[in-house]
Amino acid sequence: MNVTVLGAGTMGAGIAQACLTAGHTVTLFDAYPEALPAAQDRIAKGLARAAEKGKLDHGSPEDLLAALHLISSDLIEAVAEAGIVIEAVSEAPSIKEEVWRTVGPAAPSDALLCSNTSSLSIGHLGEVSGQADRFCGLHFFNPVAVLPLVEVVEAAATSPATLEAAESFARGIGKTPVRCKDQPGFLVNRLLVPYLNQAIVLLQEGAADATSIDTAMTLGANMPMGPLALADLVGLDVVLAIMETLERELNDPAYTPADLLVEKVRAGALGRKTGQGFHSYGGDA
Ligand code: CAA
Repeated sequence: MNVTVLGAGTMGAGIAQACLTAGHTVTLFDAYPEALPAAQDRIAKGLARAAEKGKLDHGSPEDLLAALHLISSDLIEAVAEAGIVIEAVSEAPSIKEEVWRTVGPAAPSDALLCSNTSSLSIGHLGEVSGQADRFCGLHFFNPVAVLPLVEVVEAAATSPATLEAAESFARGIGKTPVRCKDQPGFLVNRLLVPYLNQAIVLLQEGAADATSIDTAMTLGANMPMGPLALADLVGLDVVLAIMETLERELNDPAYTPADLLVEKVRAGALGRKTGQGFHSYGGDA
């Protein structure tokens, strides 16, 4: 299948890699041309790592990379032959709306239209696209190459055929789909992100330092990584955007973002992707 992935950040590159690994042809679009070689490099390293572990069934890393096409100039061209569009651009509502206003009418009339949004309403983005029946959430988890879950998010106007096609696509790339309704945070982020936020509140209250909070949860609750390290992996801007959505949509002060989270994002310390968050990351984070 021709898969078009919109946005070449951490999630877009990870989704593109997962689709290439399953043998799909992938067009990766980003409005910023400089994002594309970095994403390609990251995908090449991920494919090489998977090959080392004997996990590539559809060809060598070189074969799979040959099915990756990079486009930055023309969004309409990027979706022109798509069987499925997976949008993973920045979580800013205005950017996602602008993308879907363009892509909805430009994609083939039988293409599946999906957003990887972690915080915005699927129903709203579907309306903006003008193709609400063919639109659903397809929400991946970071790191995409490792985590098997995909939330398939059903808005009121999403057709049953769209949901079935999205689930079948997810299974075809080796993921496990879980269907859920279009509500703030879907399933995982509704549970996970308030926990990350509470860890930040503990840090700002001086309960312990960042390493101790993380060690407490890895050794005391058997988490694969501590909450502050996980917030850094997810991206503090993304954590903040999700908390803001939860607070606004659920109208509950329990979901108020921690002051320290807001400060970090204002200071541009967004976690691994900027090299600095609650921990510091040198080199190729
Ligand atoms: N490409 C291909 N394979 C990769 C890869 C990549 N980019 N990255 C890792 N792998 C493979 C490794 O080769 C390794 O393979 P083997 O098991 O065969 O050895 C396997 O995946 C695990 O890799 P690591 O040894 O590097 O991983 P680890 O054991 O140190 O665990 C971790 C790292 C996977 C990040 C783990 O700490 C973890 O699961 N943390 C929690 C992550 C999490 O909760 N993510 C969800 C965040 S929420 C979200 O994303 C949604 C949102 O909207 C915000």
